Amino acid sequence: MTHKIAVIPGDGIGIEVINEGVKVLNCVSQLDPKIQFEFTHFPWGCEFYSKTGKMMDDDGIERLSKFDGIFLGAVGYPGVPDHISLWGLLLRIRKSFDQYVNVRPVKLLKGAPCPLKEKSPKDINMIFIRENSEGEYAGSGSWLYRDKPNEVVIQDGVFSRVGCERIIRYAFELARTEKKSLTSISKGNALNYSMVFWDQIFQQLSQEYPDVETHSYLVDAAAMLMITKPERFEIVVTSNLFGDILTDLGAAIAGGMGLAAGANLNPEGNFPSMFEPIHGSAPDIAGKQLANPLATVWSASQLLEFFGYKEWAARLIDAIEYLLVEQKTLTPDLGGTAKTADVGDAVVAYLQKHFA
Ligand code: NAD
Ligand code: IPM
Ligand code: MN
Repeated sequence: MTHKIAVIPGDGIGIEVINEGVKVLNCVSQLDPKIQFEFTHFPWGCEFYSKTGKMMDDDGIERLSKFDGIFLGAVGYPGVPDHISLWGLLLRIRKSFDQYVNVRPVKLLKGAPCPLKEKSPKDINMIFIRENSEGEYAGSGSWLYRDKPNEVVIQDGVFSRVGCERIIRYAFELARTEKKSLTSISKGNALNYSMVFWDQIFQQLSQEYPDVETHSYLVDAAAMLMITKPERFEIVVTSNLFGDILTDLGAAIAGGMGLAAGANLNPEGNFPSMFEPIHGSAPDIAGKQLANPLATVWSASQLLEFFGYKEWAARLIDAIEYLLVEQKTLTPDLGGTAKTADVGDAVVAYLQKHFA
């Protein structure tokens, strides 16, 4: 089957890592002719903005809607204000295509560095289900009395019943299928509307899933527990902003930003889903082939899984683990001296050797 994939490398290291992701997916196609990809590249991002005043073409969303999936590097670069670049491209895509589920594994692979002395892969094995369409990222608010002494800024958080129910239900279904516990992370003590509502819906839905063990933590305590007792967390569901912050924390305990992947899903398939590493454009190392492309390879694995190729999805994770444990073609963030492209080549070599 042929899957039409829109490739948006974006900015900075996004361009470098997405090359490797595409390289690996092309290798899968070569080894398994049943899986074919037709890639179309879109040059959207901050450079495009500096030439055109736009982050994407006017008909960009319309054109993307024709694809089966989107593979994205990273968006945002010094020179263009972040709220312009991100709302013009990345967040616009997530919203336009109602990609309301953000699946972010926080899983310590064998051989990956972990700053927690006494923790090993058996202790750090979570899947974050981040609400990805509303909440603190509603994108609305008001700016009153601009530049006056009484200036006030209001940023709205929007939590709809439909929005909360669908993400929490997605997480319960996943927990049931995986036979794992489900933890909700919120902040009802201070956020006396949004998070009280969230907790209530979590509680209501839990009645429908008596077989799923549930836990509920306040976000501040959860941040502490992810460090001191990460083994408590299996499937985790949380709001947009909390999920954003906690998955960077998760990356820090599971090998670093270079190993943190994410999938932005529209589970119903009404719109294309999008696969991307969770890191940004890393201006500090961009253009030097220093970026670790393994997070992007992991996102490619999520893409394969989404399209139903579970076995190949697992093989990509095996390849990453092989590089970490034995073969050691690794970028500097993981203690190696390899270039970005060497790592992609090493993944390809592993797949060719084992699955040709
Ligand atoms: P960042 O993730 O780009 O970088 C944070 C740190 O992690 C840097 O020191 C960087 O060198 C390192 N790092 C990140 N990815 C790495 C990789 N693959 N290999 C090795 N090291 C890696 O975060 P930032 O510096 O806060 O943001 C830079 C820009 O990216 C901003 O414009 C921000 O808005 C944007 N951003 C975009 C996305 C996205 O497109 N999904 C995500 C986060 C940040
Ligand atoms: C992420 C990023 C984005 C987010 C930014 C760049 C808008 O940090 O994908 O984690 O907050 O969702
Ligand atoms: Mn983030």
